[in-house]
Amino acid sequence: MRKIAVFSSGTGTNFEAIADACEDGRIPARLALLVCDHPGAQVVERAARHGVPTFVFSPGNYSSKADFEKEIVSRLDAAGVELVCLAGYMRIVGEVLLGAYRGRIINIHPSLLPAFKGAHAVERAVEYGVKVYGITIHYVDEQLDGGRIIAQRAFSYEGSDPAEVHRIGQEIEHTLYTETISKLLNDK
Ligand code: GAR
Repeated sequence: MRKIAVFSSGTGTNFEAIADACEDGRIPARLALLVCDHPGAQVVERAARHGVPTFVFSPGNYSSKADFEKEIVSRLDAAGVELVCLAGYMRIVGEVLLGAYRGRIINIHPSLLPAFKGAHAVERAVEYGVKVYGITIHYVDEQLDGGRIIAQRAFSYEGSDPAEVHRIGQEIEHTLYTETISKLLNDK
């Protein structure tokens, strides 16, 4: 069985969608590891419910990013993970993790990249008066939200309520992410 990992810092609705899709066969892989940098995050409970092994850590307990990324890489290697899916992992991937898994790490971002990179993308887009929003899935490189784009889906919204944009966007994310992961695995 092929193995994938999800990285999340918080709520984990994308984690949940990916876990469901692995369980019912829409994604042809086992979700072998959750990596979470926030002990107590809701995603950790979701992993327990799905029986997904976790590596939950506090970055403050390590002397550097390189230090905790070495631990992450050894967990990924041990689990035999071939694809790493960042889903609300609010941390820039460093050279240790990229060095080991370049080309095998993807991320989902709530904007039509290259517009609105970084945190609070939806809030900034609403503030800007955007009328066409979207979701992007891309390979991860050294740049913040910067790697090659794999998939995008756009939607129109003329209002000014960020919560509504989040709601519509997340619905799209759950489908787009599971479909894209499945396609990447099938193409390899
Ligand atoms: C998702 O909407 C994802 O696009 C966003 O975090 C959310 C996590 O939701 N990621 C970023 O903003 C990355 N820059 P979830 O925890 O419910 O999956």
